[in-house]
Amino acid sequence: MQVKRLRSVLREVVIASMAAGGCAGNPLGGSGPDQCVDHKSATLTRSDPNANASLQLKIESCRVDVDACITLCSQIMNDAQLSGDLKKCDVAFGGGDVNVTVAYDVFRDGAPCGSIGRRPEGLVAPRRTPAETALGAWFANTAWLEASSICAFLQLAKELREHGAPRALVRLADASARDEVRHAALMSKLARRFGGEPPAVEVTPPRDRSLEALAIENAVEGCVRETWGAVVALWQSQRAPDAEMRAAFALIARDEVRHAALGWAIDRWAMGRLDHGAQVRVALAREAAVKALADERPEELPAIGLPGIAEARRLHAQTYSSLWNGGLS
Ligand SMILES: [Fe+2]
Ligand SMILES: [Fe+2]
Repeated sequence: MQVKRLRSVLREVVIASMAAGGCAGNPLGGSGPDQCVDHKSATLTRSDPNANASLQLKIESCRVDVDACITLCSQIMNDAQLSGDLKKCDVAFGGGDVNVTVAYDVFRDGAPCGSIGRRPEGLVAPRRTPAETALGAWFANTAWLEASSICAFLQLAKELREHGAPRALVRLADASARDEVRHAALMSKLARRFGGEPPAVEVTPPRDRSLEALAIENAVEGCVRETWGAVVALWQSQRAPDAEMRAAFALIARDEVRHAALGWAIDRWAMGRLDHGAQVRVALAREAAVKALADERPEELPAIGLPGIAEARRLHAQTYSSLWNGGLS
């Protein structure tokens, strides 16, 4: 599948979905089950606040400015080995103790909905440090996912080489890894702007895999997730509220379309080398990944221009009929 043709199809998907919803879009929210996030809370007590100069400073700041308490809660959560997006932080002082009650969200599978890309096999869910804002957390986790895509493409290039793939596919996989370095840097910069810090990427050592295993991973990560990543980034390049975000998502969208096209090219090459049974299993894995995306509930973060629930459904339906359902060859 040519990049130019795919770019045009995905643009049409986004434009058609925007036109169907009008300019106001659909406010995020709803009463459906939250499929991406676990909501947690904890009450923590520090009985030795004077033992730590950094903690002491945060306590003094919190005493005089309630807005500064969030950094105190973040540190106490960190010290207690709790991670997640801090949503609520209440601080009480009693005697020599500091008591904090925190509410925080933990993303299932380590990544927020809406931020997707090619993941390497063996990716370890991060132990995330709490960010001070929801935007900081979203960008930090997206940066983590982009950085993990660097590993995914380097591994893909190596395996393509080992399986005797055309050199053009290997070169494109290597080039995609370099794109992901740029994406990770862009998202990290935005994460820090909003008080987040991307977690380190950890991947267990890769194993030797059959061509079928590679094709199944590519069908899920390339044909579905990177294609959807391109659609969402295209959407955000139009709907994000400020110029820095729109520019970042536009650049990412441009590259992700190429990555998606590479996924489809690898799919075509690998399918031509697999027997009928393996081809069926690859197709079933792709269908299951498309369905899993349809079941995801988007995160409630209109401040980064993510599609809302109804918008995401429209985008998914359009992508399905234009691409995933065999509508484009
Ligand atoms: Fe990316
Ligand atoms: Fe990508």
